[in-house]
Amino acid sequence: MKRILLFILPILIIVSAALTIFGIIQVKYEEDKLMDDLKRKAKTVAESVELSARYALINNDLKSIKRLAESFQKRERMQGCVVYDKEGAILAITERISGWGQKDKPYVKDSFNARAARGGIEKFGDYSVYSYILPILGDDESLLGAVEVVYDTSYLFTTLAVLWKRISITLIILIVSIIGIALLIQRQIFILPVRRLTQWFTHFQKGELEKLRPFEEKGEFGKLVSEVEQVALGLRVARKAVSEKAHARIQKEEAWTEDKLRDLIHAKLGENTFIVVSNREPYMHVSNDISGTPKCVRPASGVVTAIDPILRACGGTWIAHGSGDADRKFINSKNKLGVPPEDNRYILKRVWLNKEEEDGYYYGFSNEGLWPLCHVTHTRPIFRETDWQMYKEVNQKFANSVLEELPAKNPFVFIQDYHFTLLAKMIKEKRPDVTIALFWHIPWPNPEVFAICPYQHEILDGMLSCDLIGFHVQVHCNNFLDTANRLIECRVDTEKFSVIRGSRETFVRSFPISVDGYANVKTTKAETEKIESIRHELQLQDKIVAVGVDRIDYTKGIVERILAIDRFLEKYPQYKDKFVFIQLAAPSRTHIKRYHDLIGEIDELVEKKNWKYSDGIWRPIIYLKRYFSPEEVKPYYLLADICIVSSLHDGMNLVAKEYVSSRSDSSGALMLSRFTGAARELTDAVQINPYSIEEFADAIKFTVEMPVEERLRRMQNMRKIVAENNIYRWAGNIITELTALNKNQP
Ligand code: F6P
Repeated sequence: MKRILLFILPILIIVSAALTIFGIIQVKYEEDKLMDDLKRKAKTVAESVELSARYALINNDLKSIKRLAESFQKRERMQGCVVYDKEGAILAITERISGWGQKDKPYVKDSFNARAARGGIEKFGDYSVYSYILPILGDDESLLGAVEVVYDTSYLFTTLAVLWKRISITLIILIVSIIGIALLIQRQIFILPVRRLTQWFTHFQKGELEKLRPFEEKGEFGKLVSEVEQVALGLRVARKAVSEKAHARIQKEEAWTEDKLRDLIHAKLGENTFIVVSNREPYMHVSNDISGTPKCVRPASGVVTAIDPILRACGGTWIAHGSGDADRKFINSKNKLGVPPEDNRYILKRVWLNKEEEDGYYYGFSNEGLWPLCHVTHTRPIFRETDWQMYKEVNQKFANSVLEELPAKNPFVFIQDYHFTLLAKMIKEKRPDVTIALFWHIPWPNPEVFAICPYQHEILDGMLSCDLIGFHVQVHCNNFLDTANRLIECRVDTEKFSVIRGSRETFVRSFPISVDGYANVKTTKAETEKIESIRHELQLQDKIVAVGVDRIDYTKGIVERILAIDRFLEKYPQYKDKFVFIQLAAPSRTHIKRYHDLIGEIDELVEKKNWKYSDGIWRPIIYLKRYFSPEEVKPYYLLADICIVSSLHDGMNLVAKEYVSSRSDSSGALMLSRFTGAARELTDAVQINPYSIEEFADAIKFTVEMPVEERLRRMQNMRKIVAENNIYRWAGNIITELTALNKNQP
């Protein structure tokens, strides 16, 4: 619209100015002409009555003089006539202008003195009139009197107003015609070709190659179009070649790397984009509290840790809630941006939620309902009908956003987590051809626990629209199959591990998630310096250091960890002044009361325990409560002799795997809750029951005193497991499984 205005506005200004100047000249000319006419008429009439008046004045014939004045009464337009004696007194006046007699008329005297006629515009009440006064002289040139004719001039202004009206109408017609013609030209030479090009691109993007028609544009636009066609052709050929080479490479038996995953995705998905959906976005723009300057952060989230390396490796589109306060400043017109910001490897599409939606869908149903329901940690789930309604609306909003991105053929969508149990169903209502996988990053409870959810039927029905559902561990798969079997009409195939509902079959598999980690990445000089500065700053020299890295969440067992450390120091006082525990804690979901209260509870507990042991400068617990970026966390992993993961219940827990992955010299020991998914793979960790403070305290002693060789052996075993089962293998397995379900795959 702006562009059209820029084009039309100068034309309109020039045309309007020209027509207005022309109008002014025309009206002025017309006014002068009418005025001249009037003057001439007034003069002629005055001169024509002069003779009769002269005669009557000489004979002092008042009757004739009055008759003369009255004869003007019936004349059209003219107001009337006045006859004066030689002193300037009125002898007779036409009745309809009798008021004119009372008016002060200095020009009468002037005309008498000069013995000359005089004409001019005068005010008469609300009117404006033209007066022409002609002195009457005797034969001896003596003044006998005068005759004055008075004309109404209002018709003159009416005539000019009509003229202005005509000019304005012409101007309006001209403006409308110019706008119309300009729009038509613009449409023909610009909008239609651009629309054809956009359509062409949409078909190309969606892979609808049969709909790509050659362009027949000429001139400069034609040249642009032909360049675009060449680029698109090049891209298509390149994609095809990449896909074929990738097919060949994935046949080789090699360890899973970023490159191998990229090959697999190119081979399996061909020219299609990989679409991922999650609530949490991988890159978030937030404003600095003080300066207001926006910066990009990577949220503390298992989903982000796991999925970001995959999309970095193979590109694609990640659709997520734009939750950063500065997020809107960094998107294009389609709410997209290239990420990571410094090295655009894939597309992040942000979906906007208002406060009401975020409260109901995220804080309410997802995190006060489903989260405690699935993590059996004795925090009561809260189900509100309003939250559920909002959850459904937001799922629909995301479904619409996904639908906009789907290619024409073989679309694949990879949904993350409990925020989107209804999404697959909503997508398939519009596009039944989409192959959809859902990965559930948290535990799945047993049927008795799940059965308390008032919306169990809709949730299961929504999830069973997926082709594949993944959990971290087999026990969660079993729980899900049991739940479906008991709570919804379906058939569970225990051979194939699938659920058949109506005509649809959903496969259920365990895919233990992992990290790309810091494996094979040597500690840099900057990191070594950072470690030393932390040691110095936190007075860690000669201390046994343990670390915990968590979001502040009641499922993470932070309170239990502090109680166990307290008990360890009570029971084994020889470690006083020797053992330090550092907790990195990122505040999370703080608008939920349970989380808000937990922050207060931990603050108080840390303070209490540090006070209990306060003696000199040693503090057993260093509590660093803020968000730490992955780069900031790494030095803590590297300096810690022990990493403590004490979740009360956890789908997998990637902190455990990150710690193992960071220890490239195979030093360090991991204490791991047996209620995490990771405990099933990392069997060389010191496994703990965080609910048993006594056992936990003893396990700390056991870990602290573990002989070096044993630590080394355990860490080497765990590193091997994490290296082999890395995030690329996880994604590779899911994609292989998913594409095997799709009959139209390339
Ligand atoms: O890993 C489970 C999970 O809920 C993820 O879905 C999420 O990204 C992460 O924990 C952090 O939680 P949130 O995104 O609510 O901050």
